Amino acid sequence: MLEARQLGKEYRSGDHTLAVLRDVNFTIPDGACGAGVGPSGSGKTTLLGLLAGLDVPSSGSVWLDGTDLGQLSEDKRAQLRGAKVGFVFQSFQLIPTLTALENVQVPLELRGDDGAPARARELLARVGLGDRVDHFPNQLSGGEQQRVAIARAFSNAPRLLFADEPTGNLDSETGERIVELLLTLNRESGTTIVLVTHDLALAGRAQRIIRLADGLVVSDAATERPRSAVASLAG
Ligand SMILES: Nc1ncnc2c1ncn2[C@@H]1O[C@H](COP(=O)(O)OP(=O)(O)OP(=O)(O)O)[C@@H](O)[C@H]1O
Ligand SMILES: [Mg+2]
Repeated sequence: MLEARQLGKEYRSGDHTLAVLRDVNFTIPDGACGAGVGPSGSGKTTLLGLLAGLDVPSSGSVWLDGTDLGQLSEDKRAQLRGAKVGFVFQSFQLIPTLTALENVQVPLELRGDDGAPARARELLARVGLGDRVDHFPNQLSGGEQQRVAIARAFSNAPRLLFADEPTGNLDSETGERIVELLLTLNRESGTTIVLVTHDLALAGRAQRIIRLADGLVVSDAATERPRSAVASLAG
């Protein structure tokens, strides 16, 4: 379970303080898919960074499976991320000099996984890119790059996947396919997914929607969805 307790984040520049998040509270149960929505600048990326332990809050805490991330050293947080967390960034952040296959292999090799090439191929096949493994990022479309980024995020079989605007720069049809892919991975691997987006249609596919505005949670609701769809998400 992932929990935000009275989470706050401020940025200081000179004598000016910008409160980006204030008193944010919610829990996301294991295996669920939760979505954060809000306009540009409302703090979505900041929130994901805090939840994933990539960044530290100014106040409050993030709890993952009963552990307060704020009580861990930076090394321990990195260890926890390596073991449990995958991240799909707003800009795909693929390494331009590496092929699709090599990009997916990187986290596996960092873990010393001998089966890295085979596993990376399998993951790319799963996201429909079995015939693009030797392409470099600039030889892939935006949607294909996003699928490589998703395959890479899944390479350590994370219990928790964070996705920042996963359909951001994609046309609606490609975006739809990416959403289907994420929901399938959620269903089949039981991975908890937390995504943020300004796309309300995408957010509506999640079980939970958390709305942010001016750093505050302005609403937090379970989405009303057909029972079968909810059941498949709940696993
Ligand atoms: N490192 C930083 N230093 C100072 N201000 C920052 C920093 N990072 C983000 N901000 C500010 O915090 C606010 C929230 O940024 P954030 O990236 O979380 O928004 P967002 O909801 O993800 O927006 P978008 O939809 O455009 O991606 C913005 O006003 C931004 O200018
Ligand atoms: Mg953002």
